[in-house]
This record gives sequence, C-alpha cells and structure tokens, in this order.
Amino acid sequence: MTEIIAQHLGLRPPGSPVEVTAARLFDGDPSAAELDLRVGSRLLDDGAWMTDADARRAVSEAVDALFAQGADIVVTPFGAIDATRSRPLATDPAATWRTGTDLWVSGETRILAPWSGNVAATGTQIVLAGDSATLRISADPDMSGLPAAPSLGVGEHLATLRPGVRYRLSVAAADVDAEIPDAVLPDHAVGWISQLGNPAAVFGLVAADGEATVDGSGDGDLLDRRAAVLADVQEHYYARPPRIDRGWKHHLIADDGRVFLDMVNNVTVLGHSHPRVARAIADQWRTFNSNSRFHYQSIVTLAEKLTALLPESLDTVFFVNSGSEAVELALRLARVHTGRDDLLAVREGYHGWTYLADAVSTSSADNPRALQSRPEWVHTLDVPNAFRGRHRGEHASRYADDAAAVVRELVSSGRPPAAFICEPVYGGAGGVTLPDGYLKTVYSEVRAAGGLTIADEVQVGLGRLGTWFWGFQQQGVIPDLVTIAKSFGDGHPLGAVVTTRAIAASYAAEGYFFSSTGGSPVSSVVGSTVLDVIADEDLAGNARRVGAHLKNRLQGLAHRHEIIGAVHGEGLYLGVEFVRDRVTLEPATTETTEICERLLERGIIVQPTGNLMNVLKIKPPLSFDEAAADFFVDAVDHVLSSAHRG
Ligand SMILES: Cc1ncc(COP(=O)(O)O)c(C=O)c1O
Repeated sequence: MTEIIAQHLGLRPPGSPVEVTAARLFDGDPSAAELDLRVGSRLLDDGAWMTDADARRAVSEAVDALFAQGADIVVTPFGAIDATRSRPLATDPAATWRTGTDLWVSGETRILAPWSGNVAATGTQIVLAGDSATLRISADPDMSGLPAAPSLGVGEHLATLRPGVRYRLSVAAADVDAEIPDAVLPDHAVGWISQLGNPAAVFGLVAADGEATVDGSGDGDLLDRRAAVLADVQEHYYARPPRIDRGWKHHLIADDGRVFLDMVNNVTVLGHSHPRVARAIADQWRTFNSNSRFHYQSIVTLAEKLTALLPESLDTVFFVNSGSEAVELALRLARVHTGRDDLLAVREGYHGWTYLADAVSTSSADNPRALQSRPEWVHTLDVPNAFRGRHRGEHASRYADDAAAVVRELVSSGRPPAAFICEPVYGGAGGVTLPDGYLKTVYSEVRAAGGLTIADEVQVGLGRLGTWFWGFQQQGVIPDLVTIAKSFGDGHPLGAVVTTRAIAASYAAEGYFFSSTGGSPVSSVVGSTVLDVIADEDLAGNARRVGAHLKNRLQGLAHRHEIIGAVHGEGLYLGVEFVRDRVTLEPATTETTEICERLLERGIIVQPTGNLMNVLKIKPPLSFDEAAADFFVDAVDHVLSSAHRG
C-alpha cells in the first residue's frame, strides 16, 4: 500500500528512511514545548478553526502562553493532523497531515547547520542538502534576513530565527527529490511517512521514540473494536463512517481534519459544543450534582421556564432522561388516569424503545415486523400523509374522518383508548405536515370517548418548526400531555412530560415518582441554558428564516430533477422524498442511500428516513445558516445531476 502510494506520488519506494539522529540545530539547549494542533486540541475550541484569521490568532495566543510558562521554543508534532487547516463547507478533503514541524522561538535565536551540505535559499525557504538528509526551513510571510552561505560545515551558523514568525521545518531522506508540501491529504500520509524524518526528534527536541504514526489517515480498526464490544443491533450511520472528534455549530470534524456539514443532528439543537452549555455543566458539576430527591434550585427554575412556554393547562412537569422515558411515562399516566389499557397511535411512528413506547411504535425502518407483533391493546391509524397513502392532496382531510371512525369502533367494541399519541409533524413519514384540522378532529373524538391526547414533541418541539414553537400549535390544538427530549438537553440526557395537575396526581395510585438523574442539578441547568439560548439567539426565528430559504431552494431543484417527488416539512425539519415515477410514486430507496453516500463524499452527513427509506431527513442544529443551506442544496444538485438511475 505504502509503495503504491509512493509510486503514485512519484516518490522512491520506502525502505531508506531518514537515519540522522541527535543532530544539533540550536546553539545551546533550549527548552522545547509541544503545541498540539490535532482535532482535539483545546486551542481549536469555540470554532477557532473556522477562518484563517481566527486559526492564526488562536495559534499565536497558544504559543505566547507556552513562552510565558518558560519555553524557549515551541514545536508542533510531526506526522500529525493540523486541524488549524480544517475549514467548513469544503467539498473536498483538506491537506491536513503535516510533513514537518512548526517552530517558534521566544527571542532571536541562532541555528546551526546540523550536518554539512549545500545551501540553497529563496525568499521563502532555505534548504540544507547533506549526504543523508535534507533540511528545509520555510516561513510565513518570508525567510528574508536569513543569512546563507553556498555550503556549510557541521555547526556553522545557518540562520537567525526571529520571534513572532512561524517557521516550518521538514527533514527528508537525501534522495527524495520531490517538492515537499507543508501538508498533504491524510490518505497520502502513508506514502510520505517513509520519506521523512521527525525534525523535533532528529534535533533532539523531543524523545526520539516519539516517532510519528500515520495519524488521521484511517481508523478502520476502531470500527472492528466497536463491532466486537457493542451489540450488532446498535447501528451507526454509514458502513464506513468518518470518526468524529469535534463539533462546532452545524459542523463536525473527523479525526483526519475533514469537516462535514451535519444535516441530521436534532439533538444538539443549539449547535455542537455550545460554550454556554459547556460552562453551565462545568459550573454546576463543580459545585453540586446529585439525584433529584434533594432540594435545589435548578429543577424548579427549569420547570418554571418550561411551563411558561406551554399553554396554561400544562402546568406540571416530570423530568426524565430520554424521549423513550418521557413517552413511557406519558402513556402510563394516561393508563392510570383513565383506568384503561388500550392505546391508539399512528402507523409508521417511532416513539422509543421502552415497553409502552415500543408498543406504539410501528415504523418498519426501526422494526420490519412491527405491525405483525403489536400487543392486542395497541390500535393503529392510517398515516395521514397527503403525498402518498390512501387520501392524497385535497382529499387528505378524509384521514381525520377515518380516524374518528376507528375511535368510535373502539368504543363500541368495548375498548375505548386510554390515549392517542402522535407526532404533530410526522417524523416517521419523513417530516410530513399533518392535514389541516387532523389533530383537532382526532383529539375531540378521543376526548369524547374519555381518552387523553399526547403530543410527542421529542423531535419537532422547541422551535425547530420556526413559525410554531411546538408542533401542536401548527394544528391549533392543546394536548393533555406533551413529551419532550432530544434537543431539550442539547445532547445531554434530559426529557420531560408536561401535563395537567390532575393527570399528574393520578400517578399516586401506583406509588411515588422518582428518576435518579431525571432533572438532576446538572441536567436542569443544561435544560435551562438550552431554553435561554433558544430565546437569546432567536433560534426559532432562524429556523423559520433559514428553513424557508432552504425549502425554497429544494423546491427549485424539484423543477430540474424528476426524482424529487416532494419537499416536506416546516422550518428546519424538512424531508426530500425521492421517487422513480411521479405518478406511481415508486420509492427511490436504493437511490436515496446512494445519494447519501455521494453527499458524504462531498462533506455532508445526511441520512434516509421514512418507512420506505426514500426521504432525505433534514434536521440540522438550529445554528444552521444560509451559507450552509446553499452548500447543501448545491451538493444535492451536483449529485443528482451526475447520478444514473439505479
Ligand atoms: C418522536 C420520537 N419520540 C421518542 C423518541 C425516543 O427518544 P430517545 O431516543 O431519546 O429515547 C424518538 C427518538 O428518535 C422520537 O423520534
């Protein structure tokens, strides 16, 4: 493999790496500090890698800090990823694998020829070519002022380095005559590594055994290790997924420094690594965290903030850790409150993996045998999908009448439902908006039958829909119970059920409610911070504005690409449905998977959804902006323009 790549690059085959060690570059014994530029380095926090200017500033502050701690020189590791070169919204992978070492000096510093050889100096580079190895030093903006004689003996004055300049050192085997770029694609690292030496080790600045690995050029064995210790049924996106080491806003950086646009993360609603959440967690953890039976402020504050965002009747909160727990609890409350067992749900929905939540979930994408294996107390309704399904277009209002008839049948057969549960915008079908008036009709029928209504807002609530903070507002209804999770914790495990005081009180028939970490001090400050940031940064407004732009552009693509059957959804909860035929609506399932793979190649993480797995699910963090929307639509356009129907 190494040989193939080396040959491809026009390099000699491997086998004669740089053999020089313990050569002397400095006139003395400077203390060297190492500066980590890899993806996980703290200097890249808060998006410092997003622009050249920010990256330069972050590096220079980090170098100054190391000098302030007493270092004479600062070096970066060789053979590692330099994520200060990672940039967002890039179609192609970036050259992030460093062929050499960066060097800064705290004061004017003489350096010596580490071996004898010929010197060639240009405005930006000085090269010392010895018998065994070649040293290259280049600098930004230039190397002017470096004195150089045409040839030097060992220990003779090579140059004087100045503070405030970032020098780049590389050491190559003498017979490498190719130009050595500062950085190469991580995929090419394996070809370069045998041609190069680690300057810091060659010059004795770091331990010689700290030799480089091909960092970031592939992490295949982690997937094998994952497969060996996690259950097969615990899936991950993609057969060969990038390993993600950092996130910022709606961007993700893989271990090799490649940046991906995150189109699917409705958990980290504020954008990845939001500094206010990170600070809130750290501050609360530093002072107090415990189970939720203690008396502390943050749980009360969060409950007050949450109920203030909901209709007046929904005034009582239970905190849990996840969407599944929230749905489980809501269904249980409904059962105990009504004294009934039967539950009514819409087909193709997903509500969680716990006992009751799983019972009302019939998405075949999550469980192909779901419909055949429901308990007899679960009843399902047709998916009210106006695009495909029994009633299309203007006839979609009939879904509500059909549902009302099912409720009446349940009543007359002696099985009136305890509760009806539904996502107010239909995630299971790919972000499909329910027909106007659907929930109004079904809620009133269920209530007339003595049942309760549950809005599962786990995916769509908390501002994602833009115009409506909660999905049920889009339908003009007020549910009896609301389930909330995912974005509520911005990736931290936090969920809630909000209901009326009377329904909440029914739980007493089954004992006391306690969830150790549901609404713990740390979880509660996270939830509070999430609600504050959504308001302070007007993320719902952003979802409305950017979502409208994105939907508009996607609808524009539908004029040119027959395969786009529909663009579903609202705000930043959209679905692009692919069909092979706009009349038969034959789902373009394999094509959708292929489109996702092609988009991954172009730096975009997006996944198929829906029962037929033919819908691109679009639910990015709400930090999403127009530049990202345009990047995404252009990439979809490119992929569809070059695709062959499969
Ligand atoms: C609508 C809906 N409800 C409930 C859940 C379950 O949430 P969790 O995965 O946090 O248990 C999900 C998860 O995808 C969901 O989409």
